Amino acid sequence: MTRISVTVNGRQHEADVEPRTLLVYFLRESLGLTGTNVGCDTSTCGSCTVHLDGESVKSCTLLAAQVDGREVTTIEGMASADGTLHPLQDAFHRNHGLQCGYCTPGMIMAAASLLEENPTPSEEDVREGLEGNLCRCTGYENIVRSIMDAAGAAKA
Ligand code: FES
Ligand code: FES
Repeated sequence: MTRISVTVNGRQHEADVEPRTLLVYFLRESLGLTGTNVGCDTSTCGSCTVHLDGESVKSCTLLAAQVDGREVTTIEGMASADGTLHPLQDAFHRNHGLQCGYCTPGMIMAAASLLEENPTPSEEDVREGLEGNLCRCTGYENIVRSIMDAAGAAKA
């Protein structure tokens, strides 16, 4: 076991993890943060995307032991403490940016990073930026529309 100390959604956690435990399983099984999904385990689908020190990463590609001393944000940490949805969550809701919802947390986390880096993306930028995130329901049109909507709201 390895002892780690990690801040997740603003809360500090101390935990003993097995050296082989992937970050996504630590989040889901040890912390109960099941909003982060596992779609492939092979870094293809992006449904496990979280933020590590503010950058989006696929949490199935990292070991929990690697996040010792670092800061992780998951989809559960995106809404405000009073329950107000993050602008991207709101935009996905209003634009029907989800069907089964399995890819949605990862899409939102990846989109948040994208908008952080480029607050005024073109549609093409959004499509390129989401290349690592797959939607098995193929709801890409509304996903892109949602992100463009959130970007527009941030601009206004
Ligand atoms: S579960 Fe991590 S990329 Fe698919
Ligand atoms: S909404 Fe079903 S996988 Fe994207």
